[in-house]
Amino acid sequence: MTKILIPTEKHTGERRVSATPETVKKLKSLGCAVYIESKAGELSGFSDFSYKESGGEIVSERDINIWGEADIIFCVQVPSEENLITLKKGAILLGLLNPYGNKDLLKIINSNMISTLSLELLPRISRAQSSDVLSSQANIAGYKAVLLAASELDRYFPMLMTAAGTVQPAKVVVLGGGVAGLQAVATAKRLGAIVFVSDIRPVVQEQVESLGARFIELPEIDEKPGEAGGYAKAVTPEFLKKQKNTLTKYLSEADVAICTAQVLGKKAPVLIDSSMLEKMRPGSVVIDLAVAQGGNCEGTKANETIIKDGVKLIGAGELPSSVPYDASSLYAKNLISLITPFIKDGLIKLDKDDELISGCLLSYEGIVLQNKVFEN
Ligand code: NAI
Repeated sequence: MTKILIPTEKHTGERRVSATPETVKKLKSLGCAVYIESKAGELSGFSDFSYKESGGEIVSERDINIWGEADIIFCVQVPSEENLITLKKGAILLGLLNPYGNKDLLKIINSNMISTLSLELLPRISRAQSSDVLSSQANIAGYKAVLLAASELDRYFPMLMTAAGTVQPAKVVVLGGGVAGLQAVATAKRLGAIVFVSDIRPVVQEQVESLGARFIELPEIDEKPGEAGGYAKAVTPEFLKKQKNTLTKYLSEADVAICTAQVLGKKAPVLIDSSMLEKMRPGSVVIDLAVAQGGNCEGTKANETIIKDGVKLIGAGELPSSVPYDASSLYAKNLISLITPFIKDGLIKLDKDDELISGCLLSYEGIVLQNKVFEN
């Protein structure tokens, strides 16, 4: 019988958990034994009692060497090295493993001969949609980024007609109209703002317009930005320079900028530099979601608010964790959707030829399959 471990997440600020009572029940119905570290779900709103009711077994690290016995570990972020070094040969680690250039993870893979499924690497194809944790979490981040901006802004979002006069709606510029960006657009529209979006993929225009936002025209040069596997490719310096010229005008009139532009596996494009910030209104707010990849806005720092020329720069690093109940529920369902087809009669057997598995299988029993990822 496959033993699955649901650990308590140890990273500072991480409030999510990798399984919910509902997904534990599903795993039990597939014939697996599920061990949940005591209080693993507490910060996401799931009690030990609710896991027990669903057939899970609550364990504490002192009770049992569960890390050494587990066949598969569902995690949100990479567990501590102290726990990882006790994993047995062939154990499977499944989660957001932050693999790019992660030499510490490589060391553990080599020494413990483990298999790793890194959810960041899941291909963005139709079949993967129900397992796509980057999308389920980015959706939450886009929503929460707008709420954060609204609470930090010195203005209302909606237009208001009052006895003292009319308040004009806030103007929001969203950079990047992918998953997080589109949810930011929808949320800002619901709050009544006027929303503009810049993206380099022309297909995004129709999507943002269907949400009631306006698309910022692309630079008029011959270069057509590329796309691969559902992600944008990096643009040339010439394109970026022209794009920034256009954006300067929009940002100088904006109250809020929500930054979500990314090129997967690469440093985020810097779309707002200090000369553009100087032209923004004091009191305006920039929320940078891409801060972990270096940021779309010059000067943002993860989980810090910096005031520059009166503009609030917020490096919003952990937004899904700030909505932990729903973030965990969606994340846990994503994991179940990915792994269920490979569990038969309580035993897990990964099919290395399956497109989803091969896309995110970083290592198999200690053999690294995607060396390039570690070189980044
Ligand atoms: P996505 O890949 O769906 O969307 C990114 C968009 O950026 C794409 O539409 C792409 O065409 C666009 N883009 C690329 N280069 C551009 C450029 N030069 N100008 C304008 N647009 C450009 O990515 P997703 O899932 O929406 O994530 C967006 C960002 O949010 C990522 O950096 C991700 O890591 C981050 N994120 C942050 C979280 C947080 O709590 N801070 C949580 C989840 C995601």
